[in-house]
Amino acid sequence: MTIAETKTLQNSLANQVADPCTLVIFGASGDLTKRLLIPALCNLGARNLLPKNFAIIGAGRSGMTDEEFRSQMTADIKTFATTNIEPELWQWFVERLYSVKTDFTCANGCETLKQRLDEVKEKHQTRGNALFYMAVPPDSVPEIVERLTEANLIKQTNDFWRRLIIEKPFGHDLDSARALNQTLLKVAEETQIFRIDHYLGKESVQNIMVFRFANGIFESTWNNKYIDNIQITAAESLGVEGRGAYYDNNGALRDMIQNHLFQMLALTTMEAPKRYDAESVRECKQNIFNSIRPYQNTDIPLTVVRGQYAAGKIDDQAVCAYREEPSVRKDSMIETFVALKVLIDNDRWSGVPIYLRTGKRLSKRVTEIVIQFKDDRLTDFGDMPTKNLTPNTLVLKIQPDEGICLQFGAKVPGEVLSMQMLAMDCKYSDYFGKQTKNGYETLLYDCLIGDCLLFARADNVETNWGIVDPILKYWQNAAQDTLQVYSSGTSGPIAADKLLERDSRKWQKFSK
Ligand code: BG6
Repeated sequence: MTIAETKTLQNSLANQVADPCTLVIFGASGDLTKRLLIPALCNLGARNLLPKNFAIIGAGRSGMTDEEFRSQMTADIKTFATTNIEPELWQWFVERLYSVKTDFTCANGCETLKQRLDEVKEKHQTRGNALFYMAVPPDSVPEIVERLTEANLIKQTNDFWRRLIIEKPFGHDLDSARALNQTLLKVAEETQIFRIDHYLGKESVQNIMVFRFANGIFESTWNNKYIDNIQITAAESLGVEGRGAYYDNNGALRDMIQNHLFQMLALTTMEAPKRYDAESVRECKQNIFNSIRPYQNTDIPLTVVRGQYAAGKIDDQAVCAYREEPSVRKDSMIETFVALKVLIDNDRWSGVPIYLRTGKRLSKRVTEIVIQFKDDRLTDFGDMPTKNLTPNTLVLKIQPDEGICLQFGAKVPGEVLSMQMLAMDCKYSDYFGKQTKNGYETLLYDCLIGDCLLFARADNVETNWGIVDPILKYWQNAAQDTLQVYSSGTSGPIAADKLLERDSRKWQKFSK
């Protein structure tokens, strides 16, 4: 299909408009609402994917009036919109914004919200369908759920649905994640719960499944017979960006590996789901999580590296050390970098190491999945100069330049046989144009239509915590020098390179 044909197809796709409903955002005065949720909802509105009968209630302790909330959002959208929002659309949108004061720390704290929901239901004909978005710190979620239950707001009937969206982090460790799941599952069905991992809202992450399962040609080589190793990198050049207090209680293993990197790992390695639906896909992911070899204290020093950034330069700008960041302890042992080797004990992946790494203040922002194939030459080319020839590599580029790149050997033109590597580099933007979404559109839309496919199931999150918990516990008692310091603006600590060198392998350089 040509680029032009792809664009025509994209424009002609029929879309399902969501049911009438009210979206209640707890923590509406926070960053997430203005930066991501409202801009994403506007983008959905612009694509006619919001129901006509729709309203948003911002719930929180701020006690803003509807008018104050509307003017605040009107000011914020100018900064955070990712597309040009037509004045008529914004007018339509702003008329549907409400604010209600709720104090979920005291009994009956959701009574005013309940009344407001009823009024809004009548005014906007939302039929009583409601979506509760917890854009609040994780500790507040159980309290809010309790208040909502008290006010009988979570129970759904044949006439209307109720759904809960829970932001990450989902718990702090296995015990807290389990407790949170229990709290939620006492009052709601699994299908009412949407545990957000914003990486699953990225087009390039969703494309992993399409690439693998809608194209038979790759799948036959996607196993330990042909693949030598897989490397998943999520590198950031930013530091903790004013989130020192949160970050210093979490660190990279909890913040990135347990969720985003494990999700990418599962999509890259899982079996083909029978159907593209929530249950089949989440079951296939769960099978992978269950097959990850547990970490033992004896192998953690050899398979997991933790690092913390020191001062350095990014794009020629001097940046401070992690311990100098606001709200970070001066003697913090929190890791801003993790590299680890994952082994999957199943028939397809036995013997194929999967290396994950993520870090802040690295030389550039890049997320990619590198599939390194085995060095299998079928012909003996004799003395031909092949020193530049490396094994085939396939790179799934997640961000910032989404695409796919296949590297293979080719004959260099000339009388004497010689070879070098070429890259078949395909950029999504050439086919689909520059994406103007912020990633929350698909996730919000799926919540509105009740599709849990892109959300983690209770057992998915718990198993993921179960994998990282032994590492977290090990670090609590590990010697200080196991935290490797790396200069900002580099590719991380040398120990991360050593991790692969021990297996006679190397990290693929971040792609340009
Ligand atoms: C968040 C983490 O979940 O993901 C942040 O809490 C991190 O620390 C961010 O910076 C990275 O997201 P993205 O989409 O910029 O790769």
